[in-house]
Amino acid sequence: MANRDGAQTKAIGVLTSGGDCAGLNAVIRGVVSRAIRGYGWRVCGIRQGTAGLLRRPVDVQDLDLALTDFNILRQGGTVLGTTNSGDPFAYPMPDGSCKDRSAEVIEGLHSLRLDALIGIGGDGSFAILRRLAQQGRINFVGIPKTIDNDVGATESSVGYNTAVMVATEALDRLQPTAASHDRVMILEVMGRDAGHIALAAGIAGGADIILIPEIAYRIETVAAQIERVRKSGRNFALIVVAEAVPDRTGARITGKGAGGDTYGGIGRVLAEEINRRTGAETRVTILGHVQRGSPPDWDDRLLGSAFGVHAVDLVAAGRFDRMVAWQNRRVVDVPLADVVARPQMVDPDGTLVRTARGLGIGFGDV
Ligand code: F6P
Repeated sequence: MANRDGAQTKAIGVLTSGGDCAGLNAVIRGVVSRAIRGYGWRVCGIRQGTAGLLRRPVDVQDLDLALTDFNILRQGGTVLGTTNSGDPFAYPMPDGSCKDRSAEVIEGLHSLRLDALIGIGGDGSFAILRRLAQQGRINFVGIPKTIDNDVGATESSVGYNTAVMVATEALDRLQPTAASHDRVMILEVMGRDAGHIALAAGIAGGADIILIPEIAYRIETVAAQIERVRKSGRNFALIVVAEAVPDRTGARITGKGAGGDTYGGIGRVLAEEINRRTGAETRVTILGHVQRGSPPDWDDRLLGSAFGVHAVDLVAAGRFDRMVAWQNRRVVDVPLADVVARPQMVDPDGTLVRTARGLGIGFGDV
């Protein structure tokens, strides 16, 4: 690709994939800014992840420096759009069957004549994007984002901190109403199969009990903990539960049939059990997607900016099949192979669980 003076210049693509979260626009801004200001490259924004590459013509837009001036740093969501369904290797067809449409995605990518692709996603997206990159011989760099914070090899993924902030704020607002009505308040938070949001927000928001999928609980123990709180003279209690926590039979409560495959509803199940066992009046708040749509906090803006810049530098250095990561107060990069299929769950013996136990917070297990 030649620029106005006839000199050859690079073109890179960028896409967001999987569930949206706060901070994605900060990443996009970082990528565009570094690529254009630092290297004079062209940046092609691919709309709605791989879905944009299945459309004909492919659904793309040139991203220029004007974008970086439009305050997108402050905005939640992603200006490129995204999708968390439609795996091109097993694409759901209207007749209920699944079709491998990976060749179409690769053809779409090749038609853009890109020198490299930067994909902003979680571990599920990375597995798909890496496979596409290998199959299509595409130079690929990944940037981790997910409120669930379950991507391996990075201490934090873009979007996680803001989600924890929202969940913590929810507890701050639930506490006064719980105390006013002598109630047990249950806050159900997202996190997919990991309990990171529940654990962090539960500690920061002063919960009495935190239930996460990584630590098996007994409902009898939860009820006993509630009784202890009440006997101590406190008239209310706060419980945070991660959406993937199973019910007493070990089953996870899903939202299947609502146009997606999501968890949701364990809070209500617990509320009934606790009311039946303790007589306490219980109420449930399912926080849901508000954890994703908030404007990014300072930390996600910072992380997103640092990740965006470093990813472009990796492309410039010709270092591909890697993911940028945050470790020991700095941006590093790791082989994508080490990340894919190795999600990072809560460590039941880790610092935060020990901190919570030290504060007297129960996990329903002992
Ligand atoms: O992975 C991010 C996440 O928000 C999970 O925490 C949650 O289980 C899921 O996505 C919800 O997906 P959807 O947006 O399809 O409802």
